[in-house]
Amino acid sequence: MDRRETWDRFYAQQDGATTHFDWFFSYEVVSGILLWALETPSPALAPTRVLDVGCGTSDLGLGLYRDCPRPVHVCCVDTSPVAIRALRQLLRTAPPPQRALSRLRLGIADGTALGATRGGRAGSVFHLVLDKGTCDALLRCPRGPGRAERLVRECLRVLRPGGCLLQFSDEDPDARIPFLERAGGAGSVAVQEVRGHYYAYALRKPGSEGPAAEAPRVQPGAEGGVAGSAGPQWSC
Ligand SMILES: C[S@@+](CC[C@H](N)C(=O)[O-])C[C@H]1O[C@@H](n2cnc3c(N)ncnc32)[C@H](O)[C@@H]1O
Repeated sequence: MDRRETWDRFYAQQDGATTHFDWFFSYEVVSGILLWALETPSPALAPTRVLDVGCGTSDLGLGLYRDCPRPVHVCCVDTSPVAIRALRQLLRTAPPPQRALSRLRLGIADGTALGATRGGRAGSVFHLVLDKGTCDALLRCPRGPGRAERLVRECLRVLRPGGCLLQFSDEDPDARIPFLERAGGAGSVAVQEVRGHYYAYALRKPGSEGPAAEAPRVQPGAEGGVAGSAGPQWSC
C-alpha cells in the first residue's frame, strides 16, 4: 500500500475526472473538526497554511479551501501523479473559495521526505497537516512502521510550533496512540471517534503559537457525524 504503482492503478480505475474518491468518508463528515483545527492562531492577516499529505482525489483540501472563513493556502500532495492529475481536473469545475485570497496548490511529493521533493515545502510553515488514510497505508505495507514513523516525523517537522497534525484512521486508539506518541516524540495525542468506526487523532507540535494538545473545544454536532452530541467530544 505504499507503492506508487499500486495507487496509480487504483486511481486509474476510479472515475477521477468527474468525482472525488474519498477513503473512509468525505469532507462534510469532518468539516467541523477541520474548522476547529484551523482555530490555531495565526498572525492576523497571514493566510492559514494547510498540507493534505497523501491527498489522493479526496475532497478534504478542496472543501477547506472553499469553506474556510479566512484566507487559507492549502497544499495537497501525493506520490501518485495519476491522483494529482485527476484532482487537478476536478478543480476546474470547483466553486470559488469564500475568501479571494485563498489558494490551492497540488503537487507530487513523498510525505516521508517532504523537504527533498518538488511538491513539498521545506521548513516549518504549516498550521495544519491532514492525513486521511495515508499513515494507515504505510503501516500496512511490508516495510511497516518505519516508513509510517518517518511520515509522522516529517509532518511534525513541516508544522509551525503550536500547529496540529490531524490523522483520520480506522485504527483503534489502543494501537494508534502509542504509535503516535513514539513517532511524534513529544506532546500528547487527543482522539475523537468519527461515525463509530473511525477516529480523528490530533497531535499538537509543542510551541508557543497555539494551545497544547489537550481536549479541544468542539461544538456538539458541529462535526456532522461525530459520535455523541453533548459534553467533551475528545479524550486525551
Ligand atoms: C488510503 S489512500 C487515502 C487518500 C486520501 N487521503 C483520501 O482520504 O481518500 C492513501 C494515499 O496515500 C498516498 N501515499 C502513499 N504513500 C505516500 C507517501 N509516501 N507520500 C505521499 N502520499 C502517499 C497514496 O497514493 C494514496 O493516495
